[in-house]
Amino acid sequence: MSFYPVFLNLQGRHAVVVGGGAIAEQKVVGLLEAGARVTVVSPELTWKLEDLAATGAIAVRRRAYQRGDLEGAFLTIAATDDRSANADVWAEAEQRGILLNAVDDLPHCSFIAPAIHRAGDIAVAVSTAGKSPALAVRLRERIRALIGRADAEFLDLLGELRPAVAARVPDQKVRTRLWYEIVDSDAVEYVRRGDVAGARRRIDELVARAASGDVAESPPRGMVYLVGAGPGDPGLVTVRGLEVLRTADVVVYDRLVHPALVERAAPWAERIFVGKRADGHSIDQEKTNDVLIALARQGRVVARLKGGDPFVFGRGAEEGEALHAAGVPFEVIPGVSSAIAAPGAVGIPVTHRRFASAFAVAAGHECEGESDLDWNALARIPTLVFLMGLRGLSHITARLLAHGARPDTPAAVIASATLPEERAVVGTLATIEALAREARLESPATLVVGEVVTVRERLGKLAAAHAEVLIEA
Ligand SMILES: C[S@@+](CC[C@H](N)C(=O)[O-])C[C@H]1O[C@@H](n2cnc3c(N)ncnc32)[C@H](O)[C@@H]1O
Repeated sequence: MSFYPVFLNLQGRHAVVVGGGAIAEQKVVGLLEAGARVTVVSPELTWKLEDLAATGAIAVRRRAYQRGDLEGAFLTIAATDDRSANADVWAEAEQRGILLNAVDDLPHCSFIAPAIHRAGDIAVAVSTAGKSPALAVRLRERIRALIGRADAEFLDLLGELRPAVAARVPDQKVRTRLWYEIVDSDAVEYVRRGDVAGARRRIDELVARAASGDVAESPPRGMVYLVGAGPGDPGLVTVRGLEVLRTADVVVYDRLVHPALVERAAPWAERIFVGKRADGHSIDQEKTNDVLIALARQGRVVARLKGGDPFVFGRGAEEGEALHAAGVPFEVIPGVSSAIAAPGAVGIPVTHRRFASAFAVAAGHECEGESDLDWNALARIPTLVFLMGLRGLSHITARLLAHGARPDTPAAVIASATLPEERAVVGTLATIEALAREARLESPATLVVGEVVTVRERLGKLAAAHAEVLIEA
């Protein structure tokens, strides 16, 4: 079951809590903090509930629930361990259209209560759809470590400055960008150091620049950035790449770009997918070039996200050529290429002082049938990396063996490197194709051939702590 998350405004609204034990007490306290008017229905109450009743903070009906108790309520919590009582409360709540949470009794809930972390006015709610409240609590603890007092103070400062910023920067679009610039800036670091005045000064600088229309540091309009998105893990994009992504008007992205990275784009950014779709179709390169040119000509800043590095089998150069021919300014922001990162993720360096002082990267899909590659030369290069080579694995190994490579040359195939589903097989030129087939490795996968593959063992495989290496032969 999936739930729709909301934060309710309970100010002055009537809430009925059925039950008077420790859990009911906790719920009552939360409801009072949110400003609700609370009635408790229970023959017995905890000491704290008695105190609240004595001071008039809550109303009490000292008896078991009776039909009609929910009259006038906006929301109800049944904190009893009696399922049949919960069922009765549920029947009345449903009939009257009142929200009901029955503690630990999912079938009788029209809403569930998340685990909440609060820091000032920041509230983060964690829900596990009722499957594991304990996990929700543990996840909340992790969030607590990330969001604390400084963030709450920073929020207060932003709230306080909001009206003045709105007056100084009346253009809403400029102001929205400015707010992102402020929260992405180092202003919060001042607050963390206890220097709120410093944070004010920093924010003032950013506001003054936006107010004067000074766009010196904003990206020029009508510009395309060819951004390397890295091999898979969204954390492996460069700082510069992320900066551009956050401020771009449009993000144009491929299949190998992690969705979490696309999510890092500004909320106002348009997202255009140009990779292979589920039906196997993809937009052809010329069309993608046309899209980039058209967007830039509309004066928009485009982040063209490409898996790995844009200039390593990424057709980034073709896009650059088309942009240049159309007179559209562009900049290349290099990325971490899977050619190096995929072997590296499982502890295989592409060079090594003893084993390899050179490496070559080749396109594996060009090895089936006719091939322009100089296989004699390739077979003599100490480390070979083949991208897009999974389908052509038998052709690649056969060609290398036919051109003098030794059958016992170590080889590895790494699939979905740096992602949670990363898997690898390690063998030799003679065995690697069968191993990859047996393991049913899927694209994207990278083949690496050479003595460097053995370095993995010398590293005690520590470098590949998260890799599931399936077979070693
Ligand atoms: C079209 S090429 C793009 C290469 C990209 N520009 C780069 O620098 O990594 C796609 C190939 O890169 C390799 N690749 C990309 N991501 C990978 C990953 N996470 N794990 C292993 N190989 C990957 C695979 O060989 C895949 O077929």
